Amino acid sequence: MSERPDLILVTETWDGLGLAMLAERQGASVLVAYDSRALEKKDAAAAHQAGEGIIERMKLAEAIKTYTGQGAIWLFDSNSFPEQADALRKKGEAVLGTGALSAKMEKDRHFAAKLAEDVGFDLTDTEEFSDTTEAIVYLEAHEDTAYVCKAQGGDADLTFVPQYDDPAPLANRMVRGYLAALEDHPGQPTSFILQKKVDGGTEVNVDLWVHEGQPLVAFVDLEAKRRHTGERGELIGCAGDYLFQIPVTSPLVKKTAGRFLGHKEFRNYTGSIDANVILKGGKVFWLEACDRLGYNAAPTLFYGLARAPMLRILEGWLAGRPLGPTFGRGYAASLSLLTSEHELGFPVLGPRSALTRFCPYSVREGPDGILVMVGGGKAWYNVGCTVATAATAEAAGKMCLRLAQQIIFPNKSLRTDLADHDLPTLPLARLRQLQAMGLMGGTSGSLR
Ligand SMILES: Nc1ncnc2c1ncn2[C@@H]1O[C@H](COP(=O)(O)OP(=O)(O)O)[C@@H](O)[C@H]1O
Ligand SMILES: [Mg+2]
Repeated sequence: MSERPDLILVTETWDGLGLAMLAERQGASVLVAYDSRALEKKDAAAAHQAGEGIIERMKLAEAIKTYTGQGAIWLFDSNSFPEQADALRKKGEAVLGTGALSAKMEKDRHFAAKLAEDVGFDLTDTEEFSDTTEAIVYLEAHEDTAYVCKAQGGDADLTFVPQYDDPAPLANRMVRGYLAALEDHPGQPTSFILQKKVDGGTEVNVDLWVHEGQPLVAFVDLEAKRRHTGERGELIGCAGDYLFQIPVTSPLVKKTAGRFLGHKEFRNYTGSIDANVILKGGKVFWLEACDRLGYNAAPTLFYGLARAPMLRILEGWLAGRPLGPTFGRGYAASLSLLTSEHELGFPVLGPRSALTRFCPYSVREGPDGILVMVGGGKAWYNVGCTVATAATAEAAGKMCLRLAQQIIFPNKSLRTDLADHDLPTLPLARLRQLQAMGLMGGTSGSLR
C-alpha cells in the first residue's frame, strides 16, 4: 500500500470484510489489519486466506507499527483486541469499535447484567456458575421454571436457549441435560450464567451511538437469531434483521440503551451502547449487551440505511456530530446466506447488481476474479448477507429474499420466513408489537 490508508479495519475472524469492501468501493483507501494467532488451526487457516485478492491486508502488529500517527481511522469489527484499541487511543489515534468497557460488557454477561440492574433494567433471576454440577443442583431446585444457559467469555457456541414454545419443566430438564453433557465436552465453559427465561413479550435491540458520553443517533434492530425458518434450530449470530432509526429522545431509547448515559462507566465513552431486552407488561427485561458493531446490524446500517459513505459517517462519529441525517428514514433488512460446512474454494456467483448488495464475511478472490469461499471450521458457515432498503420493513425483507435467490453457492441455506409475521417472535411480528406500544417517537418506527 503506497498511500496511507484512510480506514484500517481490525479483525480476527473477518466479520468486517464486507464493510472494508464497501468503504473501498465508496472511494476510501482501506487496509484490513488482522491477527489470527488465537484461533484454532482450521479457523486460522481460513482467516489467513480471507480477503486475499480483494482487499489490502497486513498483520495487526505490523499495521500498528507502520501506520500509527498517520491520521487513519482504526475500526475494530468485534470485541477482539480491546487492549490494542485502548493503546492506540492513548497515543491519540482515532479509534472506534472496541475497548476495555465494551469487551467487558459483551464477554462478562454477569457484570453487564448487574450494571443493567443498577441503571434500572428489570432482571430475571440471573446467577453465575463455574461448576456444571452446582448449576444442575440449582436447576433441580427450580424444576418447573425454564432457564437459559449462556457462556461467559463470548463463546456463543456454548450458549443454550430452549426454544420459545418448549414447555417450562421440559426446558429446565433439557438445560440440565445440556450441562451434564458438557461435563464430557473438552471445550466446556469455565464460567457461565443461568438466567430465568422470559416467556412471551417483545424482544428488541436498541443501539445508541455516543461520543464522549453524548448520544448521536439511535437504531432499533430486530433480529432473527435461529438458523432455521419457523424459529427453529441453533442460535447463530444473526440469521437476518430489520433496522431503522428512532429519535435519541424517544421513550424507547430512554427505557433501554439511554439508561446507561451518565453512568460513570460511560461518562467519557465513545462507541455504541446496545441493549438487548424483552419488553413485557411495562417491564424491560435485560438480556445482554453488544457494545460494538454487531452483526448483521453493521452491514444492514452501512449497506442499507446509510445515506453517506461509511468513512464520512465514522469521521462524524469521532467528531461528535449528530448522525441522524446521515441515515435514511426507511427500513433496512438483511438476510444471512449460510452453507452447511464451509466449502473451500467453491465460487459465490451472481449478477453484479446483486453482488453489490451482498456483504460477504468469508471469501477471497478466486480464478478469473470471482469470489470463492475460504475453508475453515464451523465458524465460517456464514458466507454473507444480502441487504435491502425500502419505505416499509416488509418490502425491504422481500427484496432481501429476492436478492438471495440471485446469489448462488453450494448448499446455500437461508431463513425463507424473513418477511413473514405469523409467529409472534418473528421480527416483523415484533415490529407490529412495538408500533402498538407507541414508544418509538415520530419517525420510521411509527411508519408501517
Ligand atoms: N432470559 C431470556 N429469556 C428469554 N429468551 C432469552 C433469554 N436470554 C436469551 N434469550 C434468547 O436467546 C437469544 C440469545 O441470547 P443473548 O443473551 O441475546 O445472547 P447473544 O445475542 O450474545 O447470543 C436472545 O436473542 C433471546 O431470543
Ligand atoms: Mg443478543
